[in-house]
Amino acid sequence: MRVDYWIFSNHDAMYRTRFHPLMVKKPDIDELTVEEVISGTGVVVIATVNRPGKLNALNHEVKEAIKELATWADDADHVRVIIFQGAKPGPAPEGKRPKPHAFVAGADVSDFKGKDSATIRPEFEDNVWEAVWNISKPTIALIDGYALGGGSELAISCDIRIATPRSMFGTPEINLGLIPGGGGTQRLTWLIGYGRAMEMVMGGGMIDAEEAHRIGLVNHVIEPDSLMEKGMELAENLASKSPLTVQVAKRAVRAALDHPISDGVLLEHNMFVDLFDTKDKDIGVNAFLERSTPEWTGE
Ligand code: COA
Repeated sequence: MRVDYWIFSNHDAMYRTRFHPLMVKKPDIDELTVEEVISGTGVVVIATVNRPGKLNALNHEVKEAIKELATWADDADHVRVIIFQGAKPGPAPEGKRPKPHAFVAGADVSDFKGKDSATIRPEFEDNVWEAVWNISKPTIALIDGYALGGGSELAISCDIRIATPRSMFGTPEINLGLIPGGGGTQRLTWLIGYGRAMEMVMGGGMIDAEEAHRIGLVNHVIEPDSLMEKGMELAENLASKSPLTVQVAKRAVRAALDHPISDGVLLEHNMFVDLFDTKDKDIGVNAFLERSTPEWTGE
């Protein structure tokens, strides 16, 4: 059974037609490092935005590469989970102060200079944040440092966020005479609620990791040295489940955002029922009854 036969909505179908016309290759640019770590029968992909001198701000090339990554990771059967992180700062050049740590400090503001709506619109129609949001597999953001503007939007386009205590979050676009344009106003409101989203979006200030954790913007706060270990622990747990069922679970939870509760419950009910025709349901149930470890087929 193919997952996308029945769990993708019309919106996703349109998205996939536009972005999945052909097999897309894993991106290969210096500013986005893509590693594959074997986990169980698949791999966890670790994508690192590698522009620490610019606090990992997303320029055009990186945004395009992340879009390619999203398409590739979604299509590649062996990929189970995708982790996003920012590169650590290098040593400070002679006589200069070190750059701060950053997940991603936003879209590259220099790309906005001299543009008008006609030039910016095409970039934001097929944008990187929707591409990450629409990955059908689990996604995790590991945040160590600034997650601002398009960086906070990248983090909230992921399913799970883990941050270090020194991380700072914000949507400072208002200070540039702009508003978030990568889904920030919508996804942030879902995640942290109307009043808090209003304060962040209209005020343009920053909140620290403790506050982000308190309001549900991040799932865990972990010391920097243990951040990747915690991320991999979560990723390996997700990678140990049936890849098909995990995608259905993601789609079911996502339905809570896209539908009124009565429709969402109906969708969940149908997904649950349909899973009874999968091999992995038989494998999971039998393994539980026989006290053995399930060997998922993804079918
Ligand atoms: N776009 C482009 N460049 C950025 C950037 C962004 N979003 N965020 C940081 N940078 C660059 C700075 O221009 C600087 O480059 P330089 O060393 O070549 O001059 C470098 O990253 C380091 O940033 P700097 O501002 O010197 O660090 P800081 O410690 O003084 O301040 C921040 C850190 C995060 C508070 C500050 O960089 C900032 O406010 N960034 C912009 C955030 C923003 O508005 N994001 C939303 C964009 S949609």
